[in-house]
Amino acid sequence: MDYETPQFFRVMQYAAAADRDVIDMVSGNPDWDAPAGITEGLHEYADLGGVDYQYPPSEGLTELREEIAARRNVDPESVVVTNGAGEANHLALAAALDREAGREVLLTDPVYPYYPGKTKLLGGTPRYVPVADDGRLDPAAVRERAGSDTAAIVVNTPNNPTGAVYPEDTMAELVGIAEDCGAVLVSDEVYDHFDYSGKFASALGVDSAHRVVTNSFSKSMAITGFRVGYGIFPPALRDAARTRHMLANVTGSRPAQYAVLKALRSTDREYYAANRDRLEERVATFTDALDDAGAEYSTPDGAFYVMARFSGFPGTMANAERLIDEAGVAGMPGETFGETRADWFRFALVTPDVVDAARRLADFFE
Ligand SMILES: Cc1ncc(COP(=O)(O)O)c(C=O)c1O
Repeated sequence: MDYETPQFFRVMQYAAAADRDVIDMVSGNPDWDAPAGITEGLHEYADLGGVDYQYPPSEGLTELREEIAARRNVDPESVVVTNGAGEANHLALAAALDREAGREVLLTDPVYPYYPGKTKLLGGTPRYVPVADDGRLDPAAVRERAGSDTAAIVVNTPNNPTGAVYPEDTMAELVGIAEDCGAVLVSDEVYDHFDYSGKFASALGVDSAHRVVTNSFSKSMAITGFRVGYGIFPPALRDAARTRHMLANVTGSRPAQYAVLKALRSTDREYYAANRDRLEERVATFTDALDDAGAEYSTPDGAFYVMARFSGFPGTMANAERLIDEAGVAGMPGETFGETRADWFRFALVTPDVVDAARRLADFFE
């Protein structure tokens, strides 16, 4: 096995086993409520029974695929409902590599660690494009590294862990690069509802046979445990995605898809706006307090992570464990996201205790 297990669960388990109270800023689990439609949908589903308790179509409940397609302005046939964006990313990468049109997968550094893990699991070779200090991805740097051996280019906007939101021209250029070198652009957009900059641009804005968009309801509806996501695949990659999804899972969870469909139809804009506002406020509060800790930090344009650097205290696993034990704050070590952020830590703002967390950090680094 030459792929690595992502370290999120390791840090979460270390924090849970600690001999003190620890503020969890590791997980990507929202601490706010799902929309009411989710609960209503689950109750409704419980009373259905019979055929509604049986396998849904492998590619997802037809009405859910149609609802997603209508909202994203794509053909319902292009939509495969998956076990979260995690599976959608896996299907997209596998389909790109299955074409035998190269083994290399271009990723950013820093990177969401599941991408290199999946790439290696599928027999591909990760190659990294460092982003700027502020998280900006320069398409020229991607073009420089892309070539005939590039099977896929994987990007994530709004970005975990940098918080960068790639503007429209960047997305268009990335699709263009994928087309020019015969690769597939995989655009993971799970944080699309958490854009504070107003600049978010989906890769769906550019029609192309060379791009796959992945997304899920894990973050937007605060239901990471439901495992409902989707991929939007161009015609040439659809069969590969559907077949792999069917062989690996048979199908997805019907009650979860039912509830998501109900919530998609009944949730108003205010729900998403309130969650966005809450996070934006937390970012401001946390970063203000980080000033007191003498930390350098990123101010995210999107997603829900802040990266911070403390002088003389690099972002290693050993130091993350020290922060848990001695400061009572659990964050992810930057080294798990790549070389460029090895001095940093990533803090997920999924707790109301951001001020307390920053105070604990300030006390620790005093
Ligand atoms: C960038 C990114 N993609 C995918 C996922 C996984 O999403 P899902 O729960 O839909 O599988 C996460 C979760 O943190 C993420 O940060």
